[in-house]
Amino acid sequence: MGSAVGLGNIWRFAYVAGESGGGTFLLLYILCIIAIGIPILMAELTIGRRAKSDVVGSFETLAPGTPWFVTGFLGVASAFIILSFYGVVAGWALHYFIQYVLGGPAISGEGGSESYFIEFHTSTYSPLFWQSIFMILTIGIVYVGVKKGIEKSNKILMPLLAILVILLAGYSLTLGGAQEALSFLFSPDWRSLRDPNVYLAALGQAFFSLSLGMGALITYGSYLSSKDKLPGAAVSVVTLDTLFAILAGLMIFPAVFAFGNAPNSGPGLVFITLPDIFNSLSLGVVFGTLFFFLLSAAAISSGVSLLEVAVAYFMRKFNWSRKKAAIIIGGIIFLIGIPSSLGYGALNHVTLIGDRDILDSMDFIASNIFLPLGGLLIALFVGVGWNKAEAIEASDFGNTWIGHTWILILRTIAPVAILIIFLSSIGLF
Ligand code: PHE
Repeated sequence: MGSAVGLGNIWRFAYVAGESGGGTFLLLYILCIIAIGIPILMAELTIGRRAKSDVVGSFETLAPGTPWFVTGFLGVASAFIILSFYGVVAGWALHYFIQYVLGGPAISGEGGSESYFIEFHTSTYSPLFWQSIFMILTIGIVYVGVKKGIEKSNKILMPLLAILVILLAGYSLTLGGAQEALSFLFSPDWRSLRDPNVYLAALGQAFFSLSLGMGALITYGSYLSSKDKLPGAAVSVVTLDTLFAILAGLMIFPAVFAFGNAPNSGPGLVFITLPDIFNSLSLGVVFGTLFFFLLSAAAISSGVSLLEVAVAYFMRKFNWSRKKAAIIIGGIIFLIGIPSSLGYGALNHVTLIGDRDILDSMDFIASNIFLPLGGLLIALFVGVGWNKAEAIEASDFGNTWIGHTWILILRTIAPVAILIIFLSSIGLF
């Protein structure tokens, strides 16, 4: 849960849903979660717990002398890329948290929260400063070891965030934009079902939000014991993660419409809309402080799982201590993230993929290409590469129809769907 619930559920879900037209996207996102996400999530936990190793080592243990370990390298690369830009956005959240602690960001008049956000995230040093604070906190937790602290704090902070999002959604729905928001989110526009890019966006969001396709859950699975029951864990992670996203949608979109913001305004969507909500509340500063604190905490616990993938690999492979690996890898990832931050200011003329800025391009490569590709390989590994009886036994499904269906999906529906979405998004299908 700590890995899955993070900026993906609130920041990324809202802006990608907003850009991809709402209802159709949500429908496809949920289909991807059910048909592809759940089976692959089970596959990752199963691989990790059985192999008891990092993302590269797990494949080497379960299938020695085969090329499956390449999947692990893809995962480590994804961890570097994702955490590099994740740190930038998490830094924005930390900045807002501290601003609310200090009495609220200086937002004045209509459009004020947008001007505030633009001024902040296009500047050079402030976002980099907050990004570095986020990275230091993340490195600090990985440095002392993931288990200590994070489980306990998650148990308190996660439910608090859920309660707050529910309260804010309830309030947001009273602001006058409810009808528009509900039809935006829940009535699919069937014409956009023909747009392959919406499928790719939904697939990428499903992988990103569930932390799938790069071995975060292989790595975490390796810390589980046979007492933990994997199917139960998988179902609760998926259910709660998806509920979080939908609730976040109910919190953001009514306000987006009520305040006349554009749903497709990109990565800044929640950083503009939420301050609008808090501004309209009499206890807005208190809510703002609490919300951005909890969002930052959720971001840190996701960042920790990203860093842990790379750290676990480097510790084993190069015999580094946990401390050394956390500092070196975390430091490198911070440096890789700098261009993503500057892409809104000093480097704002740079576009890498289509008209995407640097952060968006990093996100696209990692979430829409690397994660689904990693997921495809993980599905095929468990479905085809591994011994079927052993995989079913290691999964806790046992020799039941559910276990056999799971393998069947990993062999057929999941890889075929990912492949078709890939091919159609590049115009080949
Ligand atoms: N799932 C996390 C979130 O929603 C992000 C993440 C992606 C974490 C991939 C680990 C691996 O914020």
